[in-house]
Amino acid sequence: MCGIVGYIGKRDAFPILVEGLSALEYRGYDSAGVALVNNSGLSVFKDKGKVDHLKEITSDIENATGTKIGIAHTRWATHGAPSYANAHPHLDVNKRIALVHNGIIENYSILKEKLKKEGIEFLSETDSEVLAQLVGKYYDGDLSSAVRRALLEVEGTFGVAVIAFDNPGVIIGARRGSPLVVGVGDDEMLLASDASAIVQHTKKVIYLKDNNLIELKHGFFNTTTLDNRKINPEIHSLDWDANALAKDGFEHFMLKEIFEQPDTIRNAMRGRLLVDDGTARLDGLNLVLQELRAINRLIFVACGTSWHAALVGEYLIEELVGIPVEVEYASEFRYRNPIIDAHTLVFVISQSGETADTLAALREASRKGATVLGICNVVGSSIARETHGGVYLHAGPEIGVASTKAFTSQLTILSLLTLLLGRMRRISHSDGVTIARALEAVPKQVKKILKQNERIREIAGIYAKHNNFLYLGRSYNFPVALEGALKLKEISYVHAEGYPAAEMKHGPIALIDKDMPSVVLALKDSVYDKVLSNIQEVNARGGSVIAIANEGDREIEKYARHVIHIPKTLPLLSPLLSVIPLQLLAYHIAALRDCEIDQPRNLAKSVTVE
Ligand code: M6R
Repeated sequence: MCGIVGYIGKRDAFPILVEGLSALEYRGYDSAGVALVNNSGLSVFKDKGKVDHLKEITSDIENATGTKIGIAHTRWATHGAPSYANAHPHLDVNKRIALVHNGIIENYSILKEKLKKEGIEFLSETDSEVLAQLVGKYYDGDLSSAVRRALLEVEGTFGVAVIAFDNPGVIIGARRGSPLVVGVGDDEMLLASDASAIVQHTKKVIYLKDNNLIELKHGFFNTTTLDNRKINPEIHSLDWDANALAKDGFEHFMLKEIFEQPDTIRNAMRGRLLVDDGTARLDGLNLVLQELRAINRLIFVACGTSWHAALVGEYLIEELVGIPVEVEYASEFRYRNPIIDAHTLVFVISQSGETADTLAALREASRKGATVLGICNVVGSSIARETHGGVYLHAGPEIGVASTKAFTSQLTILSLLTLLLGRMRRISHSDGVTIARALEAVPKQVKKILKQNERIREIAGIYAKHNNFLYLGRSYNFPVALEGALKLKEISYVHAEGYPAAEMKHGPIALIDKDMPSVVLALKDSVYDKVLSNIQEVNARGGSVIAIANEGDREIEKYARHVIHIPKTLPLLSPLLSVIPLQLLAYHIAALRDCEIDQPRNLAKSVTVE
């Protein structure tokens, strides 16, 4: 959501902070600001708007340069609309400390009333300013003690960075429930809410844990718990390079990420797919074969696109492994009283590994004694650290807010999991080999679909002005219909609904007319004929159909106004291919409608609030 950057070292802090904000802008972006410590105290530059606007308003400010320490923030509004006053950094009433905050202070109104009674005036509507005022109140020259005291009074979640007017030698960072990564450079230290703001400066990072506080000094750090016990954190090495954060000639990160999928799917399989044995190895699960065999029920927990991947997982596992699967929205799971026994395995699926609801669901499942495993992209993320084991996607950083390559990598991992569990139960060796070979062929098939980009753009051109879409699919492709609709909604602000094709007649059919196109997944599988009937029902009501069908299918052309052909694979793997044209369709419709594709309004890349 919001993004934090901090820098202390020998170089000018300002350009490093602003560049870091640009790298984080995908997380949240309605305001941006920087605070620096210099000889005259604290300088703050902030406003509502994007980082580019911050750059414009600071282009001729002299005291922005020459300063070696500062903190910065991009905001995604929760408490109070985007405005100058609500933008971070926030100062205390005496302008002695500056603070940036991610997360939510749940008891902020009680604390605010208390502080007001003590005569403290507030300038913003944010919960974060309460924290700034509290730190200011306790500051007597020892910044870490003041931050510690303030944080012990707050309830809720935080990732914070704090500096003081009279101390150009220290930044304090602390976290609970909101990620903070520390970069350990040569005689310099960085702090950020994710590694994308750090990787251009150093690959050595520390993932701060909940209730940890870090003092960053020139080339030195000291980590403690909030109650002041010394910690020696592990220093990790980032395995992605700074180029992963460039658009590489693509107009948007989303398009680049769609085109990366042949590679990212291959990366998800690398070393894990055992074609000759018709199975997979997923060592990160940290479970021995006997433990895997003993499982008789799976629960997948996730949000958004990851939830759609989980739904495909349900179809896969139930059909090929033969054990019951439940797919839960993390936001619901966390407040239900889910039934978990000794043979239930819980999987949380999350690209970012920081989604607040998914994290809370993970903790709830762990509290109930479940073994909780993760399928996650971001190495070192909270979910990766708190699960008992899991599998990384290895998709590289996903910057576009609309998830694309992470979805297909999640599907790949779920297919591998199906092979692994299925071979212990009902998948024979020869069936396993058939599935493994088909999976191996997927990257090339995706590449082939991507060659139709221009044609999909033309189809998008025909429909770009429509304001309502229906997405229909059945069986393995029902979740893909949901995902296609979500992609379109998110980035083009067009209303789209995903439905199981046969459910259409139970309601949505009432919406169909010439202005409501239907995107129908009509692949040659066990439900093909039935989907053809659904297409005819749409036609009979004056609706037009864009069909995703298999290569060589001429029949469908009689019924659908437009057909996008994709290579044939096993039905169970078809979502890996059928989603690609839907990603491209959404992308081009959004581009033709002039939408901000990588940073759609109101959305943030990782939703770290409830
Ligand atoms: O990082 P996560 O996979 O946990 O994120 C879950 C959802 O917030 C995410 O998939 C969201 O729906 C995306 N914007 C979808 O494109």
